Amino acid sequence: MKELNHIAIILDGNGRWAKKRGLPRKMGHIQGAKNVEKTCRLCHKKGIKYLTIYAFSTENWKRPEDEVNAIMGLFDSYLDSCIRTSKKDNMRVRLLGDRNGLIQLLPKIERLEAISKDNTGLNLQICINYGSRNEIVRGIQQIAGRVAAGELRPDEISETTISDSLDTAGIPDPDLMIRTSGEQRLSNYLLWQLAYTEFYFTPVAWPDFNEKELDLAIDTYYHRDRRFGGVKEE
Ligand code: FPP
Repeated sequence: MKELNHIAIILDGNGRWAKKRGLPRKMGHIQGAKNVEKTCRLCHKKGIKYLTIYAFSTENWKRPEDEVNAIMGLFDSYLDSCIRTSKKDNMRVRLLGDRNGLIQLLPKIERLEAISKDNTGLNLQICINYGSRNEIVRGIQQIAGRVAAGELRPDEISETTISDSLDTAGIPDPDLMIRTSGEQRLSNYLLWQLAYTEFYFTPVAWPDFNEKELDLAIDTYYHRDRRFGGVKEE
């Protein structure tokens, strides 16, 4: 059976979930945050080693200020709760994204990364202030700096050099990418890392994405034929 080590999710539809129920958008995000906790437990139970979630993009700052503040507040409490339960949950948490734009959350993020770095359970990557193009630009700047310093020749730059310059350095590429709530686009998510990933789109809004829905996505993945550009094995 093929491996399923890494699931990447675009959490979408919190706002629509709330609107459908006549609730403020913030309530959708609260429900969405609860569902992140549940999904981590589910993935761990199912033997998934890596879970990457797209929680806040470099473009999401354009949302109304009160919504952005509510979301940042949820991240802040989530980080607190992860710090408290880090030992018990045995989960390693890392941030993917541009840290320069995250001054307020950064001390907690770095603390959580440090205290959870030797945990051996689920690896959770949270994308906050994340945009794939921004990540690639930062990576290229880092590589160009090494070339300018004479540490690296241009012809020595390989796919590995680029992978290692990204926020996901050392993390295997996702096997399955799930986007909830009906949209069928990548929205600047892990453009380099998703080169051979299987995509699964569901109309279900993120707060309603439960174990049954996760099983459906996983089952679909196992029925896909991954060839990585090669030919089908007989
Ligand atoms: C997607 O729905 C949600 C976001 C971009 C906001 C942030 C995500 C959370 C609060 C859940 C994750 C939380 C933690 C603690 C990691 P949307 O607002 O884009 O929905 P819409 O497309 O229906 O408006």
